[in-house]
Amino acid sequence: MINIPKGTKDVLPADSYKWQYVEGMAREVSRLFNVKEIRTPVFEHTELFQRGVGDTTDIVTKEMYTFKDKGDRSITLKPEGTAGAARSFIENGMYSGVLPTKMYYIIPAFRYERPQAGRLREFHQFGVEVYGAASAQTDAEVIFIADTLLKKLGLQIKLYINSIGCPTCRAAYNQALKDFFAPNLEMLCADCKNRYEKNPLRLLDCKEEGCKAINVNAPKILDYLCEECHAHFEEVKSCLSSAGVEYEIDPRIVRGLDYYTRTVFEFVSTSIGAQGTVCGGGRYDKLIEQLGGKPTPAVGFAAGIERLLMVMEQTGVVIPEPERPTVYIAGMDAECRKKAFALASELRKNGLIAEIDHMDRSVKAQFKYADKIGARYVAVIGGNELIEGKANVKCMETGESESVAFDQMTEYFKKK
Ligand code: HAM
Repeated sequence: MINIPKGTKDVLPADSYKWQYVEGMAREVSRLFNVKEIRTPVFEHTELFQRGVGDTTDIVTKEMYTFKDKGDRSITLKPEGTAGAARSFIENGMYSGVLPTKMYYIIPAFRYERPQAGRLREFHQFGVEVYGAASAQTDAEVIFIADTLLKKLGLQIKLYINSIGCPTCRAAYNQALKDFFAPNLEMLCADCKNRYEKNPLRLLDCKEEGCKAINVNAPKILDYLCEECHAHFEEVKSCLSSAGVEYEIDPRIVRGLDYYTRTVFEFVSTSIGAQGTVCGGGRYDKLIEQLGGKPTPAVGFAAGIERLLMVMEQTGVVIPEPERPTVYIAGMDAECRKKAFALASELRKNGLIAEIDHMDRSVKAQFKYADKIGARYVAVIGGNELIEGKANVKCMETGESESVAFDQMTEYFKKK
């Protein structure tokens, strides 16, 4: 037997309605905020993520699914959706179109991580990206989109926000971080020694216990924000309050990707264990430029669909079950089954969910199957019914039966 690859999951037919519910809600919320869907390839040139996500991040250094294609090009399965959306924005010259451009995506994403509850190697994201608007109000709107989705899904999840400033204030902060870590350099893990040289901000994101202990007393970015970044952050907070979005400031949020500037945020649930971050995002005003486009401010987020579903399950959110088949038409013999096929086709043409036998089963076995698939009615056709032109229709809930003429069936079931 060939097994599913480690860190991946099947969504089985019996469960897919839960996914469709979450995805449907994500599309509905996007519609309310006038956000249109973008679809980009599952794989991109590796360089896009090296330059976009950042070559000191865990994602790029350790977790990418990278391979050479038959043309000797280095290709990577996308580990997230932002870099592909940004590449497409530039490539399609969207800055000369309608600005701001608001887009969303529902995608599979791939990261070679150590699998555990809520952490997979193939997972799925609903993401939103807004290009062209630099205002704090846009940050607040993007956060409000995520907040609206979570609330519509019946979730109460805590929002944490922070600002990591612009390159100007970051330079001063990076120096402060270096000064702070310098006396403890030898105690840091090998990755952090590298981070210290290349990107000190990443030091705050280390998962190693030893490094985490040292991090506790590190200087806080909020104390180093320049005047503009400080004002921007104040306005984000006031817009969130005016939209009724509750938040907490967490100066330790730096995010695991390099493209962020100013506002960063995470929605964190306490009900699914260590991997509690269901949604993360922020502003990234330099990415378009870094990828070779014209300077364009941007802000966005992505929510993990598996994690959303986990929190929904843990907190007892009931997802509406899919519509059950209206009727199962059982045929006694081959002739009757032929009639059942024709009648079911007619019902389906009229928008009703009808099911029939596909395995030459006895009527008793057909009833069993009808029960298993949750059919609300079973219409039985035997030799007599065939001659009389009507079926014996049984309501599975009440057990009551009545005769219904073949040519009346559509009308009959439309009323049910
Ligand atoms: P991220 O924080 O890396 O951000 O991922 C966003 C969400 O994807 C996480 O909060 C989590 O729910 C889910 N996720 C990430 N890794 C895994 C995994 N291995 N297994 C299951 N779920 C996972 C981004 O990807 C950014 N592109 C978000 C963004 C959009 N920023 C601006 N625009």
